[in-house]
Amino acid sequence: MIKLSHVDKRYAEHHALVDVSVEFPEHQTTVILGPSGAGKSTLLRSLNLLERPQKGTMQLDDLTIDFSSDLTSKTILTARRKTAMVFQSWNLFPHLTVLQNITEGPRYVLKQPVDQANQRAHALLRQVDLDDTADRYPRQLSGGQQQRISICRALAMNPSYLLFDEPTSALDPELEAQVLRVLQRLAHEQHSMIVVTHNMEFARRVADRLIFVEDGRIEFNGSSDDFFNHPTERIKEFLAAMKF
Ligand SMILES: Nc1ncnc2c1ncn2[C@@H]1O[C@H](COP(=O)(O)OP(=O)(O)OP(=O)(O)O)[C@@H](O)[C@H]1O
Ligand SMILES: [Mg+2]
Repeated sequence: MIKLSHVDKRYAEHHALVDVSVEFPEHQTTVILGPSGAGKSTLLRSLNLLERPQKGTMQLDDLTIDFSSDLTSKTILTARRKTAMVFQSWNLFPHLTVLQNITEGPRYVLKQPVDQANQRAHALLRQVDLDDTADRYPRQLSGGQQQRISICRALAMNPSYLLFDEPTSALDPELEAQVLRVLQRLAHEQHSMIVVTHNMEFARRVADRLIFVEDGRIEFNGSSDDFFNHPTERIKEFLAAMKF
């Protein structure tokens, strides 16, 4: 379980998260929606400490983090191991093969024996139909393929939570669909996922929970059904603006 209580984050000029309290349940997919600049990435990145709020607490399974005090490197490592982030632009290591990209973390951070790490990587690659790319380098693959490999890399670390920040916004529609199908399968397998996306069809079809963020505040936190079928005036406006 991830639970944020009264989390507050300011950049120099901007109050990016305003007294945010929210829970992300396990084994469910939570989709975060909201206009550009709302604070979605800041919220997601705070969960694995890529951003550091100045106030509030985060409960991450059995780990409690108080943002108002200094964090030890042990706490940061533990939090990072519990969460794995997949970014907008699949940042695979260009000088490593696909297999090496996936096994790097398990081998050097989790200290898995090389055979075990390789076996798991191949199994993950088979699940996204990319086992034949194991020995290729990222530059030899499409964006959609690289993004699916980034997902394998995140899964290989066995995180409690998978975090996605607009994982398909840099992709063509066909490649986007391939990646979203992988996310949908992971959701069905009941991974614990938090996904920032602008894809409303994905939100509607896959989200168990929906969070709508605006001006650093959580303006809606509830079921997908309530969000889409009983929207508030502001959500109606947002949904209308997402259509062209
Ligand atoms: N490193 C930073 N320094 C200063 N301001 C920042 C920084 N990062 C984000 N901000 C500001 O904080 C606000 C929230 O940014 P954030 O990236 O979380 O928004 P977002 O909801 O993810 O937007 P988008 O949909 O465009 O990705 C924005 O006004 C942004 O300009
Ligand atoms: Mg963002």
